Amino acid sequence: MADVFVSRRIFDQAIEQVEDAGHTVRCNDTSRILPTDELIDRTRDAEGLICLLNDPIDADVLDACPNLKVVSNVAVGYDNVDVEAATERDVLVTNTPGVLTETTADLTFALLMAAARRIPEADVYSRADRYDGWELMQPHMGVDVYGKTLGIWGMGRIGQAVARRGYHGFDMDIIYNSREPKPDAEAELDAEYVEFDTLLERSEFLSIHTPLTPETEATFDAETFERMNDEAILVNAARGPIVDEDDLAAALKAGELRGAAIDTFEDEPAVNQQLAEIEEFVVLAPHIGSASRETRLEMAEMAAANMVAGLEGSVPPNLINEDAL
Ligand code: DGY
Repeated sequence: MADVFVSRRIFDQAIEQVEDAGHTVRCNDTSRILPTDELIDRTRDAEGLICLLNDPIDADVLDACPNLKVVSNVAVGYDNVDVEAATERDVLVTNTPGVLTETTADLTFALLMAAARRIPEADVYSRADRYDGWELMQPHMGVDVYGKTLGIWGMGRIGQAVARRGYHGFDMDIIYNSREPKPDAEAELDAEYVEFDTLLERSEFLSIHTPLTPETEATFDAETFERMNDEAILVNAARGPIVDEDDLAAALKAGELRGAAIDTFEDEPAVNQQLAEIEEFVVLAPHIGSASRETRLEMAEMAAANMVAGLEGSVPPNLINEDAL
């Protein structure tokens, strides 16, 4: 029987799953992100930690919690965990891939549509009772989505699911750049692998789906925006720090790209105020890519299953660091 700490509110079903396996579960039952010293205090004696994507689990945390055997991150992205440090200390790290793919792709496409057709602006306008009657030259004229070129940067699971929506639903031409070509996506979606520069030049919608790594951080900065198609709408439902938000706001103001649909911020939970001031063709959301009830429950249950497997000495189904075994 092990002691497991859960860093934030999660579903009761997931907690019961761990308890039913015979473990003791303690929770931070609030929405408050624990400062690192408090997270350490409460995890110090635990063998398992279920944490969220905004709990930084670095070497200091791991050293302060010497009994830890399993860190189960309730997210597919795990840039918040120092996996190398965990591996050196034989701590298993797990994530929750797959279950959120379609939900995140839905939200990505919804944001893309909302920016292109200026839905949030139209909503605010209607609620303010400013609609005076239909006219040809209406104030919220957007741009078409169907038949346009959709560029995907990072053709993994979520990138492909977004591309599928564009190709099958909106007759879009799919171009992509990824660490490696994806023949299956090319066959299914008639997708064309292009160099990164070509992706910037040709995409009318450019959707980011890479993990956050030292290599991808701030890839989208002033210099990148200059090279993008002036008509493009940038979509980021991956990780905020991949985009330099000040540079994005400046580029939007300078007309170097048309718009942006942003679900993840550079310094969450802070929302960049320069971006927030731009209304036309800009949509902002508070990291809700996977936030459907069904998907968040599946993520929590998957994290619990990873924890239970790791604690009982089996290989967790979603183990990231096999070398820690
Ligand atoms: C993840 O799981 O990494 C997502 O960002 C959560 O929505």
